[in-house]
Parts: sequence; structure tokens; C-alpha cells
Amino acid sequence: MTREIMIRAATAEDALCIGVLGMQVFLDTYATEGIRNSIANEALQAFAPQAIARLLAEPGVALLVAECNQHLVGFAQIQLNARHSMIDAVNVAELQRLYIQERFTGSGLGYRLLQAAEHRAARDGAALLWATVWDGNARALAFYPRRGYALLGAPTYTFQGETHGNRLFGKTLSLTPA
Ligand SMILES: CC(C)(COP(=O)(O)OP(=O)(O)OC[C@H]1O[C@@H](n2cnc3c(N)ncnc32)[C@H](O)[C@@H]1OP(=O)(O)O)[C@@H](O)C(=O)NCCC(=O)NCCS
Repeated sequence: MTREIMIRAATAEDALCIGVLGMQVFLDTYATEGIRNSIANEALQAFAPQAIARLLAEPGVALLVAECNQHLVGFAQIQLNARHSMIDAVNVAELQRLYIQERFTGSGLGYRLLQAAEHRAARDGAALLWATVWDGNARALAFYPRRGYALLGAPTYTFQGETHGNRLFGKTLSLTPA
């Protein structure tokens, strides 16, 4: 089986598969102690096809998907023009999700999608791309610094009434050909 992976902009037809892929990667990454109500609610709400369809329709959000043999294996979600209280620059964008299906990790796809996300944000005029990573996500905490991201702060993140420690990473962008 060939494993040629193409990265492209998502379309409205991708909502269902992005939702299910997102739920799978979300649970793999954050449900590290099993399932509790807050995790279950977040997974069902955040990745419902209707929620993803709404994101796809938002002009300020860009979604890129990685496709292999007509299957989605990863995606990146960028909020264009998203300031952060710990970042002074004005024209910045947030990488809200960078999700690779577990079987497709460790072969450079995360880096490819990250580069595509950086290019998309820079094309929109962003001078910096930032992302927050959960303290418990050791793999992602190592991934961003190796890709040129600097640690900019340690904010907290609240979902479903729970507050968790995060790390804020950012990288200055320059517009280079894709
Ligand atoms: C964090 C995440 C995005 C990284 O994606 P990935 O596809 O595994 O990342 P890469 O393959 O580009 O890089 C990881 C490692 O793979 C290996 N790798 C990279 N390119 C490779 C290649 N061409 N061939 C073989 N191995 C390679 C390297 O060991 C690399 O480590 P390095 O940084 O020391 O070089 C992915 O693990 C993921 O989706 N995790 C779950 C969700 C998550 O935590 N997202 C981030 C927070 S939103």
C-alpha cells in the first residue's frame, strides 16, 4: 500500500471525518487516566460534525487536512488574527489543533502540517504563530522547540470547569514559498 500523503485545505465535506479523527486523537492525547464526565462532554461537543461544520464556515478559521488513500490522517486548525495576553505582537495567529492519527506519527507528517499551517498564517499576514500545549503532553512539549518555537509563558486552560497548566510556544513567521 502506498502512503503518499497530501495536504490540502479542508472543505465542508470533511466535517464528519475531521470530527471523528479529532475525537480519536483528542481522547488518545488527553484521556490519559480513562474517561470522566468532563473529557466525555468535551469530546462529544468539540468534535460533533456540526461543531466542525461551524468552524469550516468561519472566515477567521483555516483548516488543513492530511489525506492518505482517501482517508484523513491528520489536520491543523488555525485561528487567524488571534491575540494572546502574553504576546505583545498584534498580527498573530493561533495554531489551535495539530492532530495526527497515532499510526501516522513519527514520520514527519506533524512537521509538514505545521509548516503548511505556518505558511497559511503568514499568507494571511501573521507575523507569529503561537500554540498552547498541555503540561502533560510530553511529546508535543518536545515537538515545538525542535521546530523553532520559543517558550513564551505558562498560561492555564479551563474546559468543562477544570483548569489545567499549559505552555505557550510561539514562532516568528516569514513568508516563504510553500
Ligand atoms: C505532536 C504531534 C503533532 C507530532 O506529530 P508527528 O507527525 O509525530 O511529528 P514528526 O514526525 O514531524 O516529528 C516527530 C519525530 O518523528 C521523527 N521523524 C520526523 N521526520 C521523520 C521522517 N521523515 N522519517 C522518520 N521519522 C521522522 C523524528 O524522530 C521526530 O523527532 P525530532 O523532532 O527529534 O526530529 C503528534 O504526535 C500528534 O498529533 N499528537 C497528538 C495530538 C497533539 O498532542 N497535538 C499537539 C498539541 S495540539
